[in-house]
Amino acid sequence: MPKEALLKPNLHEAYPMVTHGDGVYLFDSAGHRYLDGSSGAMTVSIGHGVAEVAEVMREQAGRVAFTYRTQFTNEPAEELARRLARVAPGDLNHAFFVSSGSEASEFAIRAAVGHWREKGEPQKVKVLGRESSYHGMTMGALSMSGHAARRPDYGSLLHSFPVSPPAYAYRHARAGESDAEYAARSVEEFEASIIAENPDTVAAVIVEPIVGAAGGVLVPPSGYLRLLREACDRQNVLLVLDEVITGAGRTGTWFACAREEVVPDVLLFGKGIGGGYAPLAGVLLRDHMVQIMRQGSGVTPFGHTFSNNPLGAATCLAVWDIIERDRVLENVRRRGVQLEEGLRKLASQYDYIADVRGRGLLWGFEFVLDPGTKRPPTASSYASTVFVKTCFSQGLMLYPAGIAPLNNAVIISPPLTINEAEIDELLARLAAAVTRMGAYIEKWRTEAP
Ligand SMILES: Cc1ncc(COP(=O)(O)O)c(C=O)c1O
Repeated sequence: MPKEALLKPNLHEAYPMVTHGDGVYLFDSAGHRYLDGSSGAMTVSIGHGVAEVAEVMREQAGRVAFTYRTQFTNEPAEELARRLARVAPGDLNHAFFVSSGSEASEFAIRAAVGHWREKGEPQKVKVLGRESSYHGMTMGALSMSGHAARRPDYGSLLHSFPVSPPAYAYRHARAGESDAEYAARSVEEFEASIIAENPDTVAAVIVEPIVGAAGGVLVPPSGYLRLLREACDRQNVLLVLDEVITGAGRTGTWFACAREEVVPDVLLFGKGIGGGYAPLAGVLLRDHMVQIMRQGSGVTPFGHTFSNNPLGAATCLAVWDIIERDRVLENVRRRGVQLEEGLRKLASQYDYIADVRGRGLLWGFEFVLDPGTKRPPTASSYASTVFVKTCFSQGLMLYPAGIAPLNNAVIISPPLTINEAEIDELLARLAAAVTRMGAYIEKWRTEAP
């Protein structure tokens, strides 16, 4: 037998060999068909196998695939930056492109710390995040992440920036507390942690407008982001919003923060912007950030070999053209309503499904053993992984979420182009897997907490 040279995530598991994709479906070499209910990792925006995008990639690669950013600029990257500036809220008018969300997070740290250095405050270097958050696997990005499962292995390599609780009403709101009261209390807690850390040493705070993988789609109460913006201004720290998951139309608008009319100083995007066709992510900066650089050193934060890459940018433009041509954001809003209705119906039929939450085509829920007390399965049950594997074996891809001590949430985030019949199919397969989950739930109910 030939040796396996490629490292896979889990060395004890076998992975199907994908052969091709078509719309919301992927196919493997054994002839199985999978409905991509998670867009891989919330990435596939316009579906798989879109020939027009492949044609643009071929054409751009034939013309020029690579240039280095200190030697040339290129029209696809210029145009992608202009388009992003046009759809981004407020004066987020300046874009820089990298190859992954983690690199975008790193760039955000360099931009925030550099901003204060240029302003004569070089001691402002900390970036405060939240528990149950994820901003990437590079050491700076992980330092800002409160991802309990991914952090512990790296010890002192990581900065131990303090983290505040996320806005997570289902588990953290008090009985009788209104949305507005909970939003205010959450932000007060966050602001208290900035003050405790000494704001003169804090460069920025970073949050996901809706927490993805680390929480299983935690949607904050209305008003939360606006109050957070105000707290950052009061404490003289920058606000970084990580829209690597929520950006590029996933929640029905180009960026999730637009809904609350909140303009961060730095906005991160990734995943869906290239729809899986290009490994491209990036950062948008507000006018005032770039003005300070211009008045100071004139130097922007350092990038990478593949930053502002023409092939990546041209690919994103092709994805973007399809999003506009096919009115994909309208589809997200319409199909989002259908998906929400289906999920809520499912939750009303199975008492172990709790807190259906989301927006657009980004939805999550939790498994609980007792809806009254909200008791989750024990962390070692890995309910989310068990469920996602059950779905996968039935030809439905979902994303496991919710980190220790919970490990009990799941993300449903199909391609943004999914149609009505495909949502029905997704819901039917989901319902079958939820029914199958009943046997596990019964077993876990009898185990000691
Ligand atoms: C919110 C968020 N930020 C950043 C990242 C890191 O992106 P990447 O995996 O492309 O490095 C992720 C990845 O899942 C993410 O969900």
